[in-house]
Amino acid sequence: MKIIYANEEIKKWSRSSKKEGKTIGFVPTMGALHEGHLSLIRNAKKRADLVVVSIFVNPTQFGPHEDFELYPRDTEKDLKALEAEQVDAVFIPDESSMYGEGYRTYIEVEHLTDKLCGASRPGHFRGVTTVVAKFFNLIQPNTAFFGRKDYQQLVVIRKMVEDLNMDLEIVGCPIIREHDGLALSSRNRYLSMEERNQGLLLSKTLKLISKMMQNQALSLLEVRDAAMNFLMKNSKDNFALEYLEWVNADNLERIEQLEGFQGTITIAMAAQVGKTRLIDNIQVEVEDHA
Ligand code: PAJ
Repeated sequence: MKIIYANEEIKKWSRSSKKEGKTIGFVPTMGALHEGHLSLIRNAKKRADLVVVSIFVNPTQFGPHEDFELYPRDTEKDLKALEAEQVDAVFIPDESSMYGEGYRTYIEVEHLTDKLCGASRPGHFRGVTTVVAKFFNLIQPNTAFFGRKDYQQLVVIRKMVEDLNMDLEIVGCPIIREHDGLALSSRNRYLSMEERNQGLLLSKTLKLISKMMQNQALSLLEVRDAAMNFLMKNSKDNFALEYLEWVNADNLERIEQLEGFQGTITIAMAAQVGKTRLIDNIQVEVEDHA
C-alpha cells in the first residue's frame, strides 16, 4: 500500500496508473475509520482496478463552534485497517497543501444545500464540495464512493458532478449499522452509554416510520404525528430533534403528501444527543396511489 502525502505525488501516481490502463476507485474520508468506511472500500474494490482512500479532516466544512479540533484522529490505526483491506494507495495531505496561504476558491451548490443539515450548518456543504472537487482534480478517479448515511452530501456531490461536467461516476453505498440499528459514525465514540441509548431513537423512529408507510391507508400527517409521539414518549432531556423530513430522494424537495407522488422518498433525521449531533435516514419506495 502506497502512502502519499504530497499533491504532486498523488497526481503522478494516478496519472501513471491511468496510463497503464487501470481504473481508479476513490473513497474520500476524514479518518477514524469504521465498518461504514470499509464497506465503501469493499464496493470500490469490486468496481475498480485500483482503490485510493483519502484521510483529511477538512477544516472548511466545520463551523466555528463545531468539533474540528476534537474530531477523532488515529492515522496509525486507520492505516492498519486500510492495509488489511488491501487498498492500493492512501492520500494524507496536510492542511497547508490543501489550503495554502491566499486560498480563494470555493464551490457552492445552490438550493440543495440550504435545507436539512445545511439549515443548521451554513457553509458546511461549501467546504465539502470544495475539498471533494480538489480531490477529484488531484486523483482523477473513474468512480468515487459515498455513503447514503450522509444522504444530502451524496445528492449535493452528484449535482456538482453533473453541473460542472466532471468526468466520473458517483456511487452511493448502503448505510452500515450496529447490531441494534445505530448507524455507524466516527462521532459515535463521543457518546456515553446513556446518550447512545438516546441515539438509538433515530433508527428506531425511522424503522417505525417505514413500517407505518407500508400501510397505505395512513396519510403522511398521521405517520408524522405517530413518529413525533414516539419520540416525545421516549426521549430524555439530552435529546433534541433538529429535523425529521420527508424529501424526494432525487432532489431533496420536501414532500407534504403522498398523493400524486411516485418514486423514492428519503426520510431524513438529525438530532443533538448531549453534545453530539447524529444523523440518519431511510428510503421508502412509493407507488402512485392517488
Ligand atoms: P466521513 O464522515 O469520514 O465519511 C466518509 C464516507 O463514509 C462518506 O461517504 C460517508 O457517507 C461514509 N459513511 C460514514 N458512515 C457510514 C455508514 N455508517 N455507512 C455507510 N457509509 C458511511 O463524509 C465525509 O467524511 C466528508 O464530508 C468527506 C466526503 C470526506 C469530505 O471531507
